[in-house]
Amino acid sequence: MDELQRDYPWTKSPLVSCGPMRLIALSKLTSEVSRAGGLGFIGAGSDCSALVAELESFKGLQTECRILADVKDVLPVGVGFLLWAGEKLLMEALPILEKYKPAALWLFAPSHPDQLVQWTKETRRVTKGMTKVWIQIGTVADALEITKSCQPDVLVVQGNDAGGHGLEKCAGLVSLLPEVDDAVSALCAAQEIKKPTLVAAGGIMEGRGAAAALTLGASGVVMGTRYLASPEANIAKGYRDAVLKASDGGVTTERGKLYDTLRGTTDWPLRYGGRGVLNETHHDAAKGMSVEENKRLYEQALERGDDGWGEKARLTTYAGTGVGLVKEVKSAAAITKEVREDAISVLKRANSSL
Ligand SMILES: Cc1cc2nc3c(=O)[nH]c(=O)nc-3n(C[C@H](O)[C@H](O)[C@H](O)COP(=O)(O)O)c2cc1C
Repeated sequence: MDELQRDYPWTKSPLVSCGPMRLIALSKLTSEVSRAGGLGFIGAGSDCSALVAELESFKGLQTECRILADVKDVLPVGVGFLLWAGEKLLMEALPILEKYKPAALWLFAPSHPDQLVQWTKETRRVTKGMTKVWIQIGTVADALEITKSCQPDVLVVQGNDAGGHGLEKCAGLVSLLPEVDDAVSALCAAQEIKKPTLVAAGGIMEGRGAAAALTLGASGVVMGTRYLASPEANIAKGYRDAVLKASDGGVTTERGKLYDTLRGTTDWPLRYGGRGVLNETHHDAAKGMSVEENKRLYEQALERGDDGWGEKARLTTYAGTGVGLVKEVKSAAAITKEVREDAISVLKRANSSL
C-alpha cells in the first residue's frame, strides 16, 4: 500500500484527483470523484463564502455512499485556496478546517512564500495534523524552497500545459517532474527530512497521460480540464461545449492575463496567468482593440448565455492544452475510474512489451 492510500484509505491506486477549480469543483463533482476511489478538491478559491454550504452538502452526499460513509476521522474530500487573497482568507478558513477536517488542503499562488509556511503550520495545528497539506508548484526552485520551509505532505507538480492559472514561465511535465523529483530527493536526503509525495498535474486527460506521469516519478495525478466535461462540473453548457469542440490545444489555447483583466480578477501575483481556449476576445486584443471596448463586448457576450462561448464568441474558456483529448461528456466517477484503470493497462502493456 502506498502512502496516498494510507492517508486516504477510501482511494485506489494510482490516485486520480480533481483539482480545486474555483466555483466549478464543488460538492457534486468532488463527491463523485471521491466515491470512485479518487480525491476531489473543492475549489474555495479566494473566499470562504460558499465553503461551509459546500462542505455540508458533501457530508450529505457522503452518507449516500457506503465507502465514503465509513470514513470517520476526516471528511473524504480536499479543499483548495488561492493564497494571494491574504490573511483574511486564512482567518476565515481556519475554523472551517478545524470543524470539518477535510482530508487534504491544497495551497496555490501565494503573493509571498511566508503565506505557505503560515497556512501549513496553522492548518496542522487546528486539525492536529489530520488534514494533509498539498502545495502546488511549477518550478524546481519553488519545489526546493517549499520542501525546506513547509515540508508538505504532497507537492503537486503542475506543468505548463495545465488549464486555468499557472506560472507564466514553467516547463512541461516531461522535464519538470523528473527534475523536481531528483532535486527534492537530494535535498531531503541531505537534510534528513521526509520527502513529500509527488503528484502530477497539467495536460493529463486520460490513461496514457496518467501512466506517463507515473513513470516520470508521480504517485498520483490531478486533472482539471478533463472534468470540465462531466455533468457534475458547475459550468454552463456553452463552456462545456466549447471545451468539447476545441482541439490541437498547443495552438488553440494560450496562457495570459487578458481574461483576468476583462473580468476584473486582477489580484493574481504577476507570475501567474490563465490558460484558456482562444476566441474573439483574444483575437481582437491581438489586433489592437482597447481593453475598454473588449470589456464592453465581453459584458454583452455575458448576456448571450450559452452562445457567449465558442471560437467565434467571447467568454473565458479556461482549459489546458489537452482539450483535444476531451471528446465526450462522462460522469466524474466514470472519468476517475477510467483514467485509473487505463493507466494500469497502459503500464502493463508497456511492461509486457519489454
Ligand atoms: C477551469 C479551471 C479552473 C481552475 N481553477 C483553479 C483554482 O481555482 N485553484 C487551483 O489551485 N487550481 C485551479 N485550476 C488548476 C487545476 O487545479 C489543475 O491543477 C489543472 O487543471 C491541471 O491541468 P489540466 O487542466 O491540464 O488537467 C483550474 C483549472 C481549470 C481548468
